[in-house]
Amino acid sequence: DPILSGKHVVVTAGPTREKIDGVRFISNYSSGRMGFAIARAAYRRGARVTLIAGPVQLPTPEGIVCIKVESAREMDEAARALYEGTDIFIGAAAVADYRPLEAVEGKLKKGAETMAVQLQLNPDILAGFGAQKKAGQLAVGFALETAGGLLNAKGKLESKNLDLIAFNTFEQPGSGFEGDTNRLTLIERNGRTDALPLMTKDEAAGKLLEAVSRIMGAEGGNA
Ligand code: PMT
Repeated sequence: DPILSGKHVVVTAGPTREKIDGVRFISNYSSGRMGFAIARAAYRRGARVTLIAGPVQLPTPEGIVCIKVESAREMDEAARALYEGTDIFIGAAAVADYRPLEAVEGKLKKGAETMAVQLQLNPDILAGFGAQKKAGQLAVGFALETAGGLLNAKGKLESKNLDLIAFNTFEQPGSGFEGDTNRLTLIERNGRTDALPLMTKDEAAGKLLEAVSRIMGAEGGNA
């Protein structure tokens, strides 16, 4: 792909882990498959690709640099360090929105009948990139929503200053977390919407990058 060739594509993937104490954490079901499929698809199209991955059980694809992180704050730090040299930022990670306000040192003792863990909002990694995006840089996100959440996805496209968002749901079989398939609806800034059928995550990644390439070619990012 002459447009993606040589571009630096940064992809976040997988879950994050937010420590409760030395042995426990808050996390989610993300396997990293969607993000890794995007990274491979971008590499195949000639891009230079950096993955920033939370804890996943996937091998690092050939030719791709993978920065391994655990928490949202670590993922944010790794992303910020790459901002300047990033042409296309794709947020496929399921970042924990909240972390325990204070991680307990050692191991929380069992005993009390109920206990509360106070949570603190995490940085929004994708919104951070979107907010500082320069002409020529593209910001692409995902929105994981209930089946009727298309409007929420559009809201995220706006509020995070994205060029493209991929709406997907955890409520339909074969979609969302884990597994090898997904059903994406691609929504562009100009309102163009493409509801893709159920397909493998590799195929979906290909479709996403086709759209990214077209947008980049047409606009040169947000110029
Ligand atoms: O990893 P898999 O098992 O293959 O599953 C794929 C997936 C379901 C995780 C993926 O397709 C997906 O939808 N990823 C985004 C999940 C998510 O956290 O969605 P969200 O609607 O909460 O977040 C919106 C966007 O903001 C996402 O691009 C997310 O990466 C980003 N975000 C959210 C919160 C935060 N603190 N920082 C972020 O960067």
